[in-house]
Amino acid sequence: MDLVPAFALRIPQQVITRLMGVPSALMGQFGQAATGLFDTSAGPADMQRSMDTVLELLGEMVAARRDHLGDDLVSDLIRAAEQADNPLSDEDLLAQLMLVVIAATETTVHAIGTLIVHLLTHPAQRALVVGGEVSLDDALEESLRLQPPAASVPLRFAVRDFEDAESGQVFRKGEPILIHAAAAGTDPDVHTAPGVYNVRRPTRRKHLAFGHGPHVCPGAPLARREVVIAVSRWQERFPDARLAVDAARLPQPHSFIANGFTEIPVLLG
Ligand code: HEM
Repeated sequence: MDLVPAFALRIPQQVITRLMGVPSALMGQFGQAATGLFDTSAGPADMQRSMDTVLELLGEMVAARRDHLGDDLVSDLIRAAEQADNPLSDEDLLAQLMLVVIAATETTVHAIGTLIVHLLTHPAQRALVVGGEVSLDDALEESLRLQPPAASVPLRFAVRDFEDAESGQVFRKGEPILIHAAAAGTDPDVHTAPGVYNVRRPTRRKHLAFGHGPHVCPGAPLARREVVIAVSRWQERFPDARLAVDAARLPQPHSFIANGFTEIPVLLG
């Protein structure tokens, strides 16, 4: 089976649709449209269609929720938008919801897939986890350090002219800055043998997989639980699973942002 569509993608999709309170009747359509947002082979017209469909479904959800506010993220955002001194427009509200769908799905898919690939390709490390000597949480942090699902974080803009002391690079006010967060996890000044997957690494938590500062990922605790629960169940259910192809042949997204595997063929054992 291909682990990505059959397993890794389903978990965050189901979590986010439930968290957002997507009515069960819309769940299938919403899941399909959200998948379209991450189809890296889609052309501009297909991508636009997926975005329009997601926005349309979110619009329907917001309209339905306004009359029956519940205990879900969409209702919370509607309440917050109405109570704010400077209320959010409907367009902004939909953009925020779309951000959550985008931020919460592909990242978590890659976190699940990459952790499983790391474990399948490092049997000695996996044995430490299966034997209970190292927690799956630690194995995940090491996976996030070595291969974070969002390799770079677009986009920052310089608010004033400045010179980066370390590199001497000068940035002018208004210039865009792309931060390659993945590099922090493999900084040889911080991590010994940074390219090695080592679940006992003392510095495994020193990474920027969830960003830093005011925009640090608000979904990090949820994402960590999702990945650990999903991967522990996967290991229990398929203890003899192995990759069906050489790990070096696993396809990766054509992206300098998304970082993971687009297909993970496995034999279940
Ligand atoms: C392993 C999974 C995840 C990874 C690696 C990840 C990574 C990130 C990173 C690096 C940022 C910072 C972007 C920046 O600095 O501009 C971010 C922001 C964000 N994430 Fe996550 N994320 C994950 C899962 C989630 C989940 C499950 C949710 C929601 C349920 C979520 C919601 C968000 C939101 C709303 C933002 C924007 C925050 C802001 O701009 O203030 N993320 N995420």
